[in-house]
Amino acid sequence: MPLTVPGIVGVGMSDRANEQEDSRTITTTGSGSNSLWDGMPLTPTSVQQGTMVKLFHAWCERNKQPILEVLERVLSPAGKVLEIGSGSGQHAEFFARHLSPLQWQPSDIDEDNLASIRAWRTEAHLQNLMDPIRLDVLSTEWPIERVAGVFSANMIHIAPWECCLGLLSGAQRHVIEGGLLILYGPFQVSGAHTSQSNEDFDENLRSRDPRWGVRDLDLVREAAEGFTLEERIEMPANNQIVVFRRHSSAS
Ligand SMILES: C[S@@+](CC[C@H](N)C(=O)[O-])C[C@H]1O[C@@H](n2cnc3c(N)ncnc32)[C@H](O)[C@@H]1O
Repeated sequence: MPLTVPGIVGVGMSDRANEQEDSRTITTTGSGSNSLWDGMPLTPTSVQQGTMVKLFHAWCERNKQPILEVLERVLSPAGKVLEIGSGSGQHAEFFARHLSPLQWQPSDIDEDNLASIRAWRTEAHLQNLMDPIRLDVLSTEWPIERVAGVFSANMIHIAPWECCLGLLSGAQRHVIEGGLLILYGPFQVSGAHTSQSNEDFDENLRSRDPRWGVRDLDLVREAAEGFTLEERIEMPANNQIVVFRRHSSAS
């Protein structure tokens, strides 16, 4: 996507030819306050605007519209959605803009990402886009009340399995009855990759960090206590959206 770029202060990112969106060059560009992420942030383009630095990922531009179309269909327009691992903030800005009056609460563990989300937000002037909060999924106390939904893109495979478990139990604590947990990214289905490129990507992830890897949806579903898997939607570039609904504690 063309950007008005007063000053590029970062480096470009590279994608594999097959458009597998997660096959990113990983080099250090940021401070990376997250120990999981330290030394291995993705390589976004950084756009300096005044004192603010907006990070920019090309893959977000490619996937935001298809993801939005699913969100528009499955989310009800009222209430608040908590986004986990918002990254650059591009998704947050785009989804808040198009899903108003739904309130969008971005979050991340990484200070550079939080600053970037703030930069996107400042520029957007959207009433329904909240100031980002620092949230570590591994924490048992999330700085937020109950929400209508939790959304997370591309987080659980680029973090240890414990982060997936932390995300699931946090969602269990914070999503209201009948609310949604929506995950976007590549998944294995019944223990098998859905494409060769996902298998290659999984191998690549595990070689970078053995704790990372494309998750098996069956294992995620089993761990998602209090939720029922309602939908699995095939997305471009061999990704999927999975939609879980929080059932009542009685059921
Ligand atoms: C691959 S990036 C995805 C960013 C964005 N959702 C996207 O699709 O472009 C993974 C994100 O998860 C965040 N993250 C990693 N570990 C985390 C943790 N323990 N708690 C919360 N967020 C975490 C990272 O800071 C990063 O923003």
